[in-house]
Amino acid sequence: MSFIRVYSRVLGLLGPERNLALFIAFANIALAGLQFVEPVLFGKVVDVLNGSNERAADAVWVDTVRLLGLWAVVGVGSIFANIAVALYSDRMAHRRRLGAMAVYFEHVLSLPLAFHGERHSGRLLKIMLEGVDHLFGIWLAFFREHLSTFVALIVMLPLSLFLNWRLGLLLIALIILFACLSVLVVTRTEQAQGKVQSYHSELAARASDALGNVGLIQSYVRLFLEAQQLGAVMQRVLAAQFPVLTWWAAVTVLTRMASTLTVISIFVVGTWLHLHGKASVGEIVSFMGFATMLISRLEQAMGFASRLFFQMHGLAEFFGVMDTKSGVVERPDAKVLGRVTGQVEFSHVSLTYDGKRPAVSDLTFSAAPGNMVALVGPTGAGKTTAMALLHRLWDPQEGVITIDGVDIRDVTLESLRNNIGVVFQDSTMFNRTIADNLRVGRPDATDEEMIAAATQAQAHEFIMAQSDGYQTMVGERGSTLSGGERQRLAIARALLKNPPILILDEATSALDAMTEAKVQHALKQLMAGRTTFVIAHRLSTVRDADLVLVLVAGRIVESGPYRELLDRGGTFANLVATQQGGALPT
Ligand SMILES: Nc1ncnc2c1ncn2[C@@H]1O[C@H](COP(=O)(O)OP(=O)(O)O)[C@@H](O)[C@H]1O
Ligand SMILES: [Mg+2]
Repeated sequence: MSFIRVYSRVLGLLGPERNLALFIAFANIALAGLQFVEPVLFGKVVDVLNGSNERAADAVWVDTVRLLGLWAVVGVGSIFANIAVALYSDRMAHRRRLGAMAVYFEHVLSLPLAFHGERHSGRLLKIMLEGVDHLFGIWLAFFREHLSTFVALIVMLPLSLFLNWRLGLLLIALIILFACLSVLVVTRTEQAQGKVQSYHSELAARASDALGNVGLIQSYVRLFLEAQQLGAVMQRVLAAQFPVLTWWAAVTVLTRMASTLTVISIFVVGTWLHLHGKASVGEIVSFMGFATMLISRLEQAMGFASRLFFQMHGLAEFFGVMDTKSGVVERPDAKVLGRVTGQVEFSHVSLTYDGKRPAVSDLTFSAAPGNMVALVGPTGAGKTTAMALLHRLWDPQEGVITIDGVDIRDVTLESLRNNIGVVFQDSTMFNRTIADNLRVGRPDATDEEMIAAATQAQAHEFIMAQSDGYQTMVGERGSTLSGGERQRLAIARALLKNPPILILDEATSALDAMTEAKVQHALKQLMAGRTTFVIAHRLSTVRDADLVLVLVAGRIVESGPYRELLDRGGTFANLVATQQGGALPT
């Protein structure tokens, strides 16, 4: 993204408070204008005093007082403009910063799982925090410096020509010369700075990856190696950063020099002009004032230009995430799907993730309300994908899925997902209390309802055995609980949500036989009266299925009731025989 585009987009984010922003901007421009008046008045006073010998004392006095009075008015005006800018710009920047964070947060959470699979959550967090910090800084600087600097350099500088065009030209020439030098440095360092930023990102990704895998690092005694590798990245960051810093140090020295050089030039040229009657002493004084002011403005401009360059990368990343579109789009006229009975139809449904190999292909089947449908087949056959399509984590490229006869693309995502409960193999939990985790799908559930659900899911007992009962914190991703406990909480969570359609994706696969038996019982409770899709490795667990779909490489190769398939002696019968023979399930 180009510099200007990012910059204007940053300012565009102030849109929700446009009027206030315009007001502050106006106050700031007034401020810049007033600053310019001061050196002019100073020069005029000097000229009045300079010519006092040839005039009556009274006239000199009146002129001086008039000028000083004007000066006082300008001073008071500046004070008010300053107060307005200081007071409102900070507040607005703080508000918009949190606003931008909220928008990013909601946007990222709504992005498809495919997006999150490719990106590290630590990285997304870094992009957010860094992005809003940059936004904040730029907004503040915009109101405090950018605008007034811009006005000073672009508008006021040419106006100095009216005061004394010879000195004005000299000043303009000098300012342009230094601006060009500075731009040269900026463009020189741009690429190098980009590299620095990408190393920084690598650093953050590495660190957060390591922090997320502490167990792995400790058990494989990788501490030393990990630290060493991180150190190596840090070395690269510094190696790339130093040349950039050298250039910027040069710019700083240069602007200092520019300041001195300009003042001396104006003095020398001004004196020569004065001796030839082409400039008054007051004009020289005014231009000295302009020069020092403009040089400091230029210095400021270089300062924020450089900062902006350091921040460009982070901002581009921030906007990149904001621009990522969700693969699953809700239609503008999407209806709200009420509570369904649970009639699910797949009709010639196909999806490919990579555009080459189909993940599921031509799936056609139907499930009546309250039915249990089992999806079986080897790993990678497309079972999870088929169910992901049902609650629209993706949309199929071909085919239609309907619930109660309604195309699921015609209803709102929220109402669709409210009708579907999912229990995964590895149920994750928020790092909150057990009660909070149970209420995830129904925040307004009463304590009685929650306890009833937990009891049905065989979870009440172990919850009560915890130190704080339902108020026990479960640790990050539920790490303080065992797998079986987590699964039973996940089942209770789904029970509480009470959806008419249920997806159990290998809900018991990670459990040992004893725990599985316990969880199976809880699952039976959960499945009662719901259309349930069960993905299971242990085929014995789907004996009651009304319909078994055998998937191989994304296609349904066999389907029918459990017994019927067994009797048929095909793929399914083979799978069952293999498992009963004690071989590991695929
Ligand atoms: N998010 C994804 N992006 C790309 N390919 C995927 C994704 N999820 C699954 N796949 C691929 O799609 C195929 C089906 O996967 P999946 O539905 O998870 O199978 P199953 O649940 O039967 O083990 C596999 O080849 C898998 O590698
Ligand atoms: Mg799967």
